[in-house]
Amino acid sequence: MTITSNAILDAINNRRSVGKVTEEIPPTEHIQTMLEAAITAPNHHHTEPWRFFVLTGDARLGLGDALVEDRLSGEEDPSSIPEAVIEKTRQKPLRAPVVIGVAVQPQQRAKVWEVEEVCSTAAAIQNMLLAAHSLGLATMWRTGDPCYSEPVKQFFGLGEEDTLLGMIYVGYPASEPAARNRTPVDQVTTWWDS
Ligand SMILES: Cc1cc2nc3c(=O)[nH]c(=O)nc-3n(C[C@H](O)[C@H](O)[C@H](O)COP(=O)(O)O)c2cc1C
Repeated sequence: MTITSNAILDAINNRRSVGKVTEEIPPTEHIQTMLEAAITAPNHHHTEPWRFFVLTGDARLGLGDALVEDRLSGEEDPSSIPEAVIEKTRQKPLRAPVVIGVAVQPQQRAKVWEVEEVCSTAAAIQNMLLAAHSLGLATMWRTGDPCYSEPVKQFFGLGEEDTLLGMIYVGYPASEPAARNRTPVDQVTTWWDS
């Protein structure tokens, strides 16, 4: 029997990335609920490699400054970048009332594989997205090259071995995502029996 609908499957199947959200600030308890969901992710060796940074209000502009620093660092002549471009970059984190940076801090010890630390933290992020969805919130997991840049790493106080896995933009939905188009399961699955 294939189960096609229950609350968990509904959340998994209906969660979408939402690019535009309103300025309405989600209750702190909802953000807390997302974080509590995150830390229940499966985790080999119980390393708990995830770190969360919740940015609201003007704290988001600190991230914006780091994005600007990264943008300018790639330029031969930073003074040639128009002020409007710089300001647009600085304002990027204002696209949502809450931005949650999620980093993996892999434990450096025997038997702990870095890839597994990343897996756990990615699972934690998916838990956050699903929890948010179930609370009527919209999310967008954002990365891009700046996510892995030195200025952004420094902004979050990350060490050399740490990686920012995403900046999760959270708010109330203000746009409808386009239809989802995924390759059917049977084209990406091989069933083996004997
Ligand atoms: C690791 C990761 C990084 C992502 N980075 C971005 C991003 O920088 N910008 C963006 O618009 N979407 C980003 N996304 C969201 C994807 O675009 C989105 O999940 C995809 O379009 C499928 O849409 P859905 O989440 O509604 O199914 C990212 C998703 C993942 C898993």
